[in-house]
Amino acid sequence: HEGRLWGGRFAGGPAEAMFALSQSTQFDWRLASYDIAGSRAHARALHRAGLLTEAELAGMLAGLDRLDADVRSGAFGPAPTDEDVHGALERGLIERVGADLGGRLRAGRSRNDQIATLIRLYLRDALAEVGAAVLEVVDALHAQAERHLGVAMPGRTHLQHAQPLLLSHHLLAHAWPLIRDRQRIADLDRRLAVSPYGSAALAGTSLGLDPEAVAAELGFSASVPNSIDGTAARDLAAEAAYVLAQIAVDLSRLSEDVILWVTHEFGFATLDDAWSTGSSIMPQKKNPDVAELARGKAGRLIGNLAGLLATLKGLPLAYNRDLQEDKEPVFDSIDQLLVLLPAVAGMVGTLTFHPDRMEALAPRGFSLATDVADWLVRQRVPFAQAHEIAGACVRFCEQNGLELSDLTADQLPQIAPELTPDVLDVLTVAGSIASRNGRGGTATAQVRAQLAEIATVLAEF
Ligand code: ARG
Repeated sequence: HEGRLWGGRFAGGPAEAMFALSQSTQFDWRLASYDIAGSRAHARALHRAGLLTEAELAGMLAGLDRLDADVRSGAFGPAPTDEDVHGALERGLIERVGADLGGRLRAGRSRNDQIATLIRLYLRDALAEVGAAVLEVVDALHAQAERHLGVAMPGRTHLQHAQPLLLSHHLLAHAWPLIRDRQRIADLDRRLAVSPYGSAALAGTSLGLDPEAVAAELGFSASVPNSIDGTAARDLAAEAAYVLAQIAVDLSRLSEDVILWVTHEFGFATLDDAWSTGSSIMPQKKNPDVAELARGKAGRLIGNLAGLLATLKGLPLAYNRDLQEDKEPVFDSIDQLLVLLPAVAGMVGTLTFHPDRMEALAPRGFSLATDVADWLVRQRVPFAQAHEIAGACVRFCEQNGLELSDLTADQLPQIAPELTPDVLDVLTVAGSIASRNGRGGTATAQVRAQLAEIATVLAEF
């Protein structure tokens, strides 16, 4: 049957278009080394069950080693007649050890438990790689935050000036979601560490094979308690797609800040030449393409997640061929992030900040109004009234073309009798920042504590 894994009950082969639709080697070949690892463990299980002699096991393992070497060197690859990675590798094994021995490996397993196992093995490795790349971005944010500790900037809500912040505090606010993403990967890995091998087609294996032994040999912590679930579930692929999409969304939000900061109007930062691009017509341009591609790819990764969930939602138990559609979206999300993350780390790590510009803007837009209100509260004025008085200060400044920090001692009584010249002491960016000294606040000591906390987290991974 030209290397096909089925055919006994068919009088003829599949139509060309049928085969073209069915074929998956173009994307599942990346699972080849995991398929071979699974085959080694399965061969040992067959041997323990008395279905392979000592000599047959040795021949099988030697054949698998040769096949593995040929796959790695590129000497062996899928042929146009191979339907999927499993069929291609069985053909390769038979070419190396003969049909009598090679044809024995498939006993007691199905492509259904194979593929479900391979995707978990692959995801465990690929997500670890993504996780390491995520921590490189965290590292870049941490280094910039450390380097610029003490630099003030305008903090915004609704994109409007709100209260002054330390630049470091803002940068670390982008680090924490990425740290949680790394933790999500670690958490998901515990669920991925359960092997479906031995579930066979759906009902479990009948040949006395030991799924727990196979699981242990493949580095899993257990095997699945339910063979139907083992072959039919893809929630873990969807969870991976979610974590990957969340990483992209977190990079996208960071990128949106960078895109704003490097505009002429903000002028908070300049991109390094190595991490920006020019225009083919406008000679002056220096564009934030890394950040824009991050923002763009976030949409793509959200699509991969949404598409996979839509594929899964109507499927009855157990295995359905629809499940073959789980791979490309997840592979794509991983591939995109493995290209994107190093670029974002490079962009962030090489940004040049302009502290003078940020500090000049920090008190603008009446961003010290809360400090006036808080000062009044410390003078025992009820907060509701303090809010009114601080609002009156803003109105006064707006009418006279002033900022709150421009107010003078003789102007204060015109606004409200509660305002004594002492209030001028809090009308500074440095005073405002220093006053927010509770845990998690923007005061320098708190930001220094965060830097230490992140360094500890980074050391743990
Ligand atoms: N290519 C299939 C997948 O990705 C492997 C399992 C095929 N099983 C089957 N009975 N056709 O899901």
